[in-house]
Amino acid sequence: MFLRSFSRSLMELKLIAAVAFLLLSATVAADYVRPQPRKTLHFPLSHNPSSHPQQVHISLAGDKHMRVTWVTGDKSSPSSVEYGTSPGRYSSVAQGESTSYSYIFYSSGKIHHTVIGPLEHSTVYFYRCGGQGPEFQLKTPPAQFPVTFAVAGDLGQTGWTKTTLDHIDQCNYDVHLLPGDLSYADYMQHRWDTFGELVQPLASARPWMVTEGNHEKEVIPFLKDGFESYNARWKMPFEESGSSSNLYYSFEVAGIHVIMLGSYTDYDEQSNQYRWLENDLSKVDRKKTPWLVVLFHVPWYNSNKAHQAEGDDMMAAMEPLLYAASVDLVLAGHVHAYERSKRINNGRFDPCGAVHITIGDGGNNEGLAHWYIDPQPEWSVFREASFGHGELKIVNSTHAFWSWHRNDDDEPIRSDQVWISSLVSSGCVAEKRHEQRKMLLAP
Ligand SMILES: *[C@@H]1O[C@H](CO)[C@@H](O)[C@H](O)[C@H]1NC(C)=O
Repeated sequence: MFLRSFSRSLMELKLIAAVAFLLLSATVAADYVRPQPRKTLHFPLSHNPSSHPQQVHISLAGDKHMRVTWVTGDKSSPSSVEYGTSPGRYSSVAQGESTSYSYIFYSSGKIHHTVIGPLEHSTVYFYRCGGQGPEFQLKTPPAQFPVTFAVAGDLGQTGWTKTTLDHIDQCNYDVHLLPGDLSYADYMQHRWDTFGELVQPLASARPWMVTEGNHEKEVIPFLKDGFESYNARWKMPFEESGSSSNLYYSFEVAGIHVIMLGSYTDYDEQSNQYRWLENDLSKVDRKKTPWLVVLFHVPWYNSNKAHQAEGDDMMAAMEPLLYAASVDLVLAGHVHAYERSKRINNGRFDPCGAVHITIGDGGNNEGLAHWYIDPQPEWSVFREASFGHGELKIVNSTHAFWSWHRNDDDEPIRSDQVWISSLVSSGCVAEKRHEQRKMLLAP
């Protein structure tokens, strides 16, 4: 009874939202005709044996290691991965762990997590999961610059998601970064499985590094704490980075230190996340990793009317930490549109602040966020409500090239681009160290 009325009210809400969206869309005239949201994709039932791997994806798991994650219907299937550098010839085998969960009437398959390595850099590996089914291949990230990240948030599983994934597939990238909102399963647990199938061709070949959004929460009061499905399926290297929660962690690729924060877990000064962040930042060595990049779901700098000011509390708590550490770039999602800021801190242009980019436009079924605050704030350089993805090419220790590619008529059109120079190269890092030392020495 409870479940039925719950899902019915969810559907009613969605219907009201859709009608409101159509009415409002009709009253706004724009020079570029914005695409409508596309339907959720239909996934045919698989007829593979239940011991065959499904939903294969990989993620970085500490220096030179990769975690392989997959699901089997067969509960006796082993959590082993065979791998090697030539097809069909596996010189190594690793044993992993598995988990599963139940959610009201749904029971997940067996979810396997197996760490493989040590692996060589910039190398293609062929691998097989649980000794069954097809061979997959992955490429490890390079040890040196250049490194290219694909970035897309708020993906979902619609026709637009497919287009975004196809465009990302055409770009030659090393690691995928996802600032929250993956499947839009929204309590329908089998939708986590279909999302896993949808992203497998990409996510089994390059590491996908994700953090949580509101659609991962799936809380049912008194019955379910949040993030059960997300944590079981998208295990990230939190243990490897000294964190006690899968909701925030960090990792390194060549000369880049990347921090994935959680917008939906405690972030005030007394919180575990805050203390972990302080500790993680204190260990960053800018000689080894000149670039410092941070991701989380809810943007701090957002001039879209959608989700206005939702990130303010987290920003008040954590922006001073990020500024003191000279973070180069912040990537967020949540708002279904694209926006890029100048270097900014505490609401004002600051040459030693971070560039903030909102890229919550992967293609989910809720559609785009069309309405902006006017006039455009002084800090906002570029803003547009279209589906698309970003590419971040870190060229060397001083230069990175950022581009945003709009899904225009199903072609990826590069609509925004900018060269970003690192704060290390502009002297900000050394200057702030000096200020901190002066403060410590002051009587
Ligand atoms: C870094 O890359 C930029 C852009 O290609 C180039 O202008 C610059 O000379 C490079 N710097 C070094 C130290 O190689």
